[in-house]
Amino acid sequence: MGRKALLDVLKGAEPWRRPIWLMRQAGRYLPEYRQVREKAGSFLNLCYTPELAIEVTLQPLRRFDLDAAILFSDILVVPHAMGLPVGFVEGEGPKLGVVRNSEDVAKLGHVNAGEIVQRVCDVVRGVRGSLPEHVALIGFCGAPWTVASYMIEGGSSDRERAKIAAFSRAGWFGELIDRLVDASVSYLCAQIGAGAEAVQIFDSWAGDLPGDLRLEYVVSPIARIVGGVRQRYPDIPVIVFGRGLGVDHLRVVEGCRPNAIGVETEQRLGWFVDKVDSGCALQGNLDPVALLAPGDVAVKEAVKVIAEVPMERHIFNLGHGIKPQTDPLTVERVVNGVRDYDRALIGR
Ligand code: CP3
Repeated sequence: MGRKALLDVLKGAEPWRRPIWLMRQAGRYLPEYRQVREKAGSFLNLCYTPELAIEVTLQPLRRFDLDAAILFSDILVVPHAMGLPVGFVEGEGPKLGVVRNSEDVAKLGHVNAGEIVQRVCDVVRGVRGSLPEHVALIGFCGAPWTVASYMIEGGSSDRERAKIAAFSRAGWFGELIDRLVDASVSYLCAQIGAGAEAVQIFDSWAGDLPGDLRLEYVVSPIARIVGGVRQRYPDIPVIVFGRGLGVDHLRVVEGCRPNAIGVETEQRLGWFVDKVDSGCALQGNLDPVALLAPGDVAVKEAVKVIAEVPMERHIFNLGHGIKPQTDPLTVERVVNGVRDYDRALIGR
């Protein structure tokens, strides 16, 4: 029971059980999170106060039988650490200073000089020191395309301005992507140095860009991040979640050689089983909306997902983050439902 099932699956070894973690497993659907969040005042203050960020990282593990903790932070911490103003407005989401030309890009600093990364590393160290021995700690960053889209637009949007920059292959846009590749490598390496045992790269808007632009601004920057991290930490597994890539997850597998791909809800996870070589695990992909349905709907849907993927290649997760209106009891039933299914499978 001492072994970490998540790390075994990521390294192609036989796990003692099917690993489970859930995107946004810490957050507003938990009353104990809302309590700490209120105490912190602002969302960023919560991220940058190690004692509080450690506490909310650990909260979901006290309720659910999970195999991983994910560092509590945000993908927009990287632009903030690069010197861009970043804030989270209550009920509206993130608001950032904008980056729209070469001068704006030139003003951005390097992430590792500053206090922000030190704070994040304090959270990583604190969490790592208090985890049960079968639970792995995942660090993360946003992928360059998704993070750039927030920097270009100044917040959440339809990403139209960012897409125009990509379609035009604007010089400053390429420079911004390059800067984010370097920043992400340093940032992930800092987290690993502090104790992260695996890392996930979130490209929530990967599906935005078509064809060759997808190769240039989604697959290639992520491949450079994976390469940069592996150069320093060859044994730390990397999960790439390129949401909305559909069949192009195969291009990520080929171009980035991740230890696992995270797959969105819209794609059938089982489709990838014989198309991706066994060195790459599959993570996902229960629809977070299924967790809002009454009764045992979510458990039934979870079983449909796990029935399609062999245990030694699967990391059970959602296809996107948990919704704030989710009932924690439903999450508990889903986690236990996956465990029951696997026990019956092994017992057969
Ligand atoms: O539990 C975890 O998964 C770890 C923590 C985590 C957060 N954000 C906490 C958070 C992680 C991994 C993220 C990633 C993130 N942040 C992504 C990529 C994944 C995805 O969901 O697509 C993106 C696009 C962001 C940017 C972001 N952060 C937005 C657009 C918002 C506002 C929308 C919202 O849900 O409020 C956030 C805020 C945020 N990040 C919250 C949390 C718990 C809610 C803030 C609050 O408590 O008020």
